[in-house]
Amino acid sequence: MNPVLAAIRSRRVVRAMSDRPVSRADLETILDAGRWAPSAGNRHLQRFVATDHPGTLHVLRMVSPGMIARPTAAIVICTDRALAADFGFRPDVPGPWIDVGTAAATLMLAAHAIGVGAGPVTSFSKAAVAAALHLPDGLRPDMIVCLGYPATGGPAPIRRGRRLSWRDLTTFVP
Ligand SMILES: Cc1cc2nc3c(=O)[nH]c(=O)nc-3n(C[C@H](O)[C@H](O)[C@H](O)COP(=O)(O)O)c2cc1C
Repeated sequence: MNPVLAAIRSRRVVRAMSDRPVSRADLETILDAGRWAPSAGNRHLQRFVATDHPGTLHVLRMVSPGMIARPTAAIVICTDRALAADFGFRPDVPGPWIDVGTAAATLMLAAHAIGVGAGPVTSFSKAAVAAALHLPDGLRPDMIVCLGYPATGGPAPIRRGRRLSWRDLTTFVP
């Protein structure tokens, strides 16, 4: 199978992570991949705030009910709302939100490619995360990508019935 297609298929959200810190080189490789994510109008309104500091990660976990993993690094995908306004994006348009998803998918696939487990979290207090990371006004934290080397055991994956086939998900139209 084509290696990119194989990686897309084999990537899973990782929630069981070892204590071994994610190396700075691996973190930088993942961050470098993130800048290749497609974005609305090629505006790149997202900014990545990364941390591998145990104390900061602890605070992030405390304010993030959705963070089941104990990551040794995290990348917080933020949207620069001031930059979005400068480009004429109205606050309610979907493009910048969708960009958060393309960035997250790219970061997680890159992590998987180099043997780092990754999992997204959107269930967190934006105000608390912004305070913990000392984010400047206008930088809105939208998603946390947890990172860590995969460990055995830990929480079971969330499964909702069988995996849907492409036919389940697709309608061809003339
Ligand atoms: C927008 C979005 C938000 C998510 N938020 C969380 C979260 O807060 N906590 C969590 O453990 N997983 C979260 N997930 C991960 C999903 O639960 C996961 O993608 C799903 O279980 C499928 O897992 P798989 O990618 O390994 O097949 C989120 C995924 C997406 C796309």
